Amino acid sequence: MKTFPDDFLWGGAVAANQVEGAYLEDGKGLSTSDVQPQGVFGPVVERVAGDSGIKDVAIDFYHRYPEDIKLFAEMGFSCLRVSIAWTRIFPNGDEQAPNEAGLAYYDKLFDELAAHNITPLVTLSHYEMPWGLVKQYGGWGSRQTITFFERYARTVFARYREKVKLWLTFNEINMSLHAPMTGVGLPETSSKGEVYQAIHHQLVASALAVKACHEIIPDARIGNMLLGGLMYPLTCKPEDVLEALQENRAWQFFGDVQCRGAYPGYMLRFFRDNGIQVDITDADREALKSTVDFISFSYYMTGCVTTDEELNHQARGNILSMVPNPHLASSEWGWQIDPVGLRTLLNVLWDRYQKPLFIVENGLGAKDKPDADGVVQDDYRISYLNDHLVQVREAIDDGVEVMGYTSWGPIDLVSASKAELSKRYGFIYVDRDDSGKGTLARSRKKSFHWYKEVIATKGASLKA
Ligand code: BG6
Repeated sequence: MKTFPDDFLWGGAVAANQVEGAYLEDGKGLSTSDVQPQGVFGPVVERVAGDSGIKDVAIDFYHRYPEDIKLFAEMGFSCLRVSIAWTRIFPNGDEQAPNEAGLAYYDKLFDELAAHNITPLVTLSHYEMPWGLVKQYGGWGSRQTITFFERYARTVFARYREKVKLWLTFNEINMSLHAPMTGVGLPETSSKGEVYQAIHHQLVASALAVKACHEIIPDARIGNMLLGGLMYPLTCKPEDVLEALQENRAWQFFGDVQCRGAYPGYMLRFFRDNGIQVDITDADREALKSTVDFISFSYYMTGCVTTDEELNHQARGNILSMVPNPHLASSEWGWQIDPVGLRTLLNVLWDRYQKPLFIVENGLGAKDKPDADGVVQDDYRISYLNDHLVQVREAIDDGVEVMGYTSWGPIDLVSASKAELSKRYGFIYVDRDDSGKGTLARSRKKSFHWYKEVIATKGASLKA
């Protein structure tokens, strides 16, 4: 039976705004996530203290992290992906000095992980930024945001230099094309040109963070984070194949800049053809040369594209619109399940960049129901994860360098797209519903024991 490498990192991934709650505690400022209580596609709703959006408490990880980390350790996690809420460190985003209470919180969190031999993988910005920067400066539309972000990044690198050696810059950086408020703090009505200008600022900021990380923590590694949705041509018509190439480049462009250090020619043509003018200075070009050490990505689904108008029925996934693949089944949320696509994507990224890869999100959102004994028998989740991990192992056998796998939401959390708690990903059940009712008690699902076994056997227990 094939096993995973000894140093393969096993674990789970969460994001501050989807687990922590405590949205105004210890000096935290409002973030873009706080003003989108209905999720990344929901409207902006200006908040005041005491509002009852589900994320305000989320799963109360802010206070319950020791209990949760103990459960992760029981499963044998060697890695936990978390994010730092920028607004805990710089509440409005433009302060000169950081908020000590916010810094102290993450000190405790990283210490708790260290006590359980769990390596933190830390995202600097996961689907949120200070709302103050959006209101006063126009989010990533402003060049000044680069300076504020660099200050934030340098602050946390300096503070946690002994505790965190694996970093990621922006979560799913390519997502801004589909949800500009969440990605770059711009209104949904923004023009393509405005969005690409903001994206450019974020790419420069990402590169400056890479440079700062290398300076401040020389033995750390820092990666980017892409939404890795592979697009297939719906037919073998050459036009469909070209269309798929172009659709994939829409997200690969981010990886190209972050891994190769410059804008690719196809993107400059895209800008020309669409009348988009992005202000790129010489200093920006220089900054972009700081490239990432590894590539991380999320993987949930694939889709198809075609140039045939009649076949082009658009189906909406979380973020991407794509034509359904007739060969694949879907989750309850319409996300098409494609384990083999993960092997393909790993090979595509490896062939393209020759940099280590890290799968930092993958999982099945489902409606779980505890049985009479209070246990969730989530065989569907086990089957989904098993089939994806088998393909990861195949990719490793293909020669792809894979650093690790952190499944999305190892503990139930608030979903990003619609801010639901009924869409569960966890090995650990959390007693809380969409209306906020529940005790917040944690309990082990069937998949908890399954994942523990997978980790303990380095994947030998997987069923091919
Ligand atoms: C990714 C995000 O897009 O997908 C996560 O990085 C998100 O934040 C995950 O939670 C799953 O999406 P959803 O909408 O089911 O939570």
